[in-house]
Formats: sequence, C-alpha cells, structure tokens
Amino acid sequence: MSRKEELKAQILDLVGAYYDEVHRPKPRREGERVAYGGRVFDGEEMKALAEACLDFWLTSGPWSATFEADFARYLGVERCAFVNSGSSANLLAFMALTSPTLGDRAIGRGDEVITVAAAFPTTVAPLVQFGAVPVFVDVTLPTYNVDAGALDEALSDRTKAVFLAHTLGNPFDVEAVRTFCDRHGLWLIEDNCDALGSRVLFRGAWRLTGSLGHLATSSFYPPHHMTTGEGGAVCDSDEALHRVVLSLRDWGRDCRCPSGTDDLCGCRFSGQFGTLPRGYDHKYVYSHFGYNLKATDLQAAIGVAQLRKVPAFVEARRRNWKILREALKPWEDFFILPEATEGTDPSWFGFLLTVRPEAPFSRDGAVAHLEAKGIQTRMLFAGNLLRHPCFDAMRASGQGYRVVGDLATTDRIMKDTFWIGVYPGLDGTRMTSIVEALESLCVSA
Ligand SMILES: Cc1ncc(COP(=O)(O)O)c(C=O)c1O
Repeated sequence: MSRKEELKAQILDLVGAYYDEVHRPKPRREGERVAYGGRVFDGEEMKALAEACLDFWLTSGPWSATFEADFARYLGVERCAFVNSGSSANLLAFMALTSPTLGDRAIGRGDEVITVAAAFPTTVAPLVQFGAVPVFVDVTLPTYNVDAGALDEALSDRTKAVFLAHTLGNPFDVEAVRTFCDRHGLWLIEDNCDALGSRVLFRGAWRLTGSLGHLATSSFYPPHHMTTGEGGAVCDSDEALHRVVLSLRDWGRDCRCPSGTDDLCGCRFSGQFGTLPRGYDHKYVYSHFGYNLKATDLQAAIGVAQLRKVPAFVEARRRNWKILREALKPWEDFFILPEATEGTDPSWFGFLLTVRPEAPFSRDGAVAHLEAKGIQTRMLFAGNLLRHPCFDAMRASGQGYRVVGDLATTDRIMKDTFWIGVYPGLDGTRMTSIVEALESLCVSA
C-alpha cells in the first residue's frame, strides 16, 4: 500500500468512527421534535465525501460523471445533468425548451405553458422570468394532482408545453397528460423533485416517474428522497435536448469537453461558429445565453452513496405512509385521506390531509395541536401560488398568466390541507408518536 493509500485508509476509518460516535441515529428522546423530513445517511456517505475532499477536485469532475451515469441508469433514461438544486433543474429544463435550436417547437415569450397553482414556486418561476404565460388548471382530491380533464379547455394556439410536479410523490395521470401532449405536439416537463422512485403503469409497462416526460427534474435537498445537500438533476433521453441542457448549465458554451480537458471534441481550433473567425477556440464559443448551475464533486460523492440506498428509502416511505393511512381510517369523517393515482405506485414524499368542513377542528387547529405535541407539519407548498405577493403585480394587471375555471380545489388546499412526514428517518417510536398525536386530536375534538 502506498503512503497515500495508507493515509486515506486511516482517514476513512476515522470518518467511519466519527459517524458512529456523532451521527448514528438514536431513539427519540422525551420531548424531541418529530421532523417531517431530513437527511438519512451513514458512514458510507461521510466516507465518500471525505474521499472527494481528499481528491480535492472541488468543481464538477469524476464523481459527478459517475453520479450522472448512476442516476440515469436508476431512472431508466439515457442522460442526466447534475446541477446545484431542483430549482436550477427546473430553470434549465424550461430554458432548454426556449433554445432557438428547436426551431418552431421552441417556447417563445408570450407562449403558454399549462401548469397548476397548488405547487412549489420554482416549477412556475422560470416561465414567468422568461416571459412565457403560465396557464393554471385546477387539481383534484384526493390525489392533489392536475385535473387532466381540464387540459383540453386550457389549450390555446399559443400552448407549447405542460410543466407539472408529481404532487408529494403521487404521480399525476401521466398516461392522460402525455397523450394530450403528444396529440398537440407539446413538450412535457416532469418535475420529479418530490417523487423519486414512484412508478407508473404507462402504455402497458411499469416505469419510474422522471422517465416519462421529454425532460424531468429532481431535487436532492435534504428532506427529499435522497440528498446531496443542495443538488438536483435534469434527465432526458434526447441527445439534442441534452446538449442544450449542458450548454445552458455550463455558461452557454458550445463545447462538450468536460472541465479540465481540452479538445476531446476534436475541433478546438478548427470549427466555424457564428460569425467568428474560423478556428476560434471552441472552449469559448457560446451557443446559448447560459448560466453556471453545476454542482460540485463533493455533492456528487454523497449522491453516489445515497443513490444505492434509494430502493430501501422508497420502501420505508411506503411503509410509513401505510401506517398513517391505516391509523387514520377511523377518522375519515374528519379528513380526506390521500389516495394513490390509479395505475401508480407512489414513492411518497409526505402524507397529505385535508380537513373536512364537518370536522370539529380547522386545518390551523389541527396543525397547532400537532406542532404543540412536537410533530412537525408542512403546507402543500404555496397552497395557491396565485395568491402570493410575487403575483401581486400580475394579479393587479390581469396580465402574464391565465386561469382555467375557478381553482376551487386549489383554494381549498390552501385553506384546509397540510402534511406530515413519512421519511425513512421516522422509526417505529417516532411513527407511534405521530399516530398518537393524530389520535389525540381526533378523540379530544
Ligand atoms: C416540486 C418541487 N419542485 C422543485 C423544488 C425545488 O428544489 P430545490 O429546493 O432543490 O431547489 C422543490 C423543493 O422542495 C419541490 O418540492
């Protein structure tokens, strides 16, 4: 063993010992809060991170390439671009569809994109920032997903795309939405940030969400199905689209040579681009107005170790969701209980509850009760995004967006819905605490 390998082995052993001493999960202590989500990891992630630290590549490099290949393989797609957040992934996926390289199919300013308002803001933000027009359709209960029956009504001659998240892990009706997109020549972006591991029966075969749109995004922020700290991904199986994604991610450049390499493209000093002089250095040729949204190798190293655990994480999420579903069955008069969309096997991000008008408590009352008992709760993100201050100016002018119908269910979600966690860090004792807190709410009411 070389001195380098010897030192590395010692360091990694110590990192493992540090994990055992400091981070190994412990049983819930009396009075400790029960989180809705959080990072779940062991010595493997910490050792991978330590290895990447020792490599000291720092920016996107070999670990990122490994993670991208592993993640694409997991989803069953051909390509993955690792980025620095799920929001960046959404920005990239959307902006890729505005590329002039797409000709008539490129989304232009004033073109419409169908989406929902019961959403996370950064599914919608890129459209507004670019000057496209979000067209909001309502969602349905108890799946909390787009009302696929309203898509025809939302269509106009400016519609170019549909951009939707699988709400809290529950897939939207991909069969209906993709068929609608294909019929009308629209792009479909799947925001898969909350649904890694969800499965859908699509055209007769079981497929993972995130492999069914033209582009799909993921988030690796800590409460999500796996984490890299900050992090995200854009996945697809279309080489031309992927080229645009990479160009936009990496400053807008035309060249695909990974950082730290020169002339893998074979045309570093021989190409003709734009109206540049022939042979202008391809490294500095820009085919798009891009960003720098790359993640680092430190994040990728964590991702490589986390991804191996995803199947077990997904099973734990399903198991915890079932525990809550069973426990709340007697209280269906008080709550609308969540249901998997037909033909799907969700990898749940959380357990959604909508308080019925007949219940003896309000949503806010239920949330206050649970929080007082140390059970962390969450809203369904924006509730109704249109009612937020970021929409004030657009709401006042009535310009820049369109609404189909009255979004009554979206408003209901804003008023009556909340969710609690099902993440793998919730062991038996913590799940029991959640169930007892919910039961005490219902019994005491
Ligand atoms: C549906 C959805 N899309 C996008 C995001 C953004 O991901 P990130 O926090 O990594 O930017 C989130 C974040 O939780 C989300 O829930």
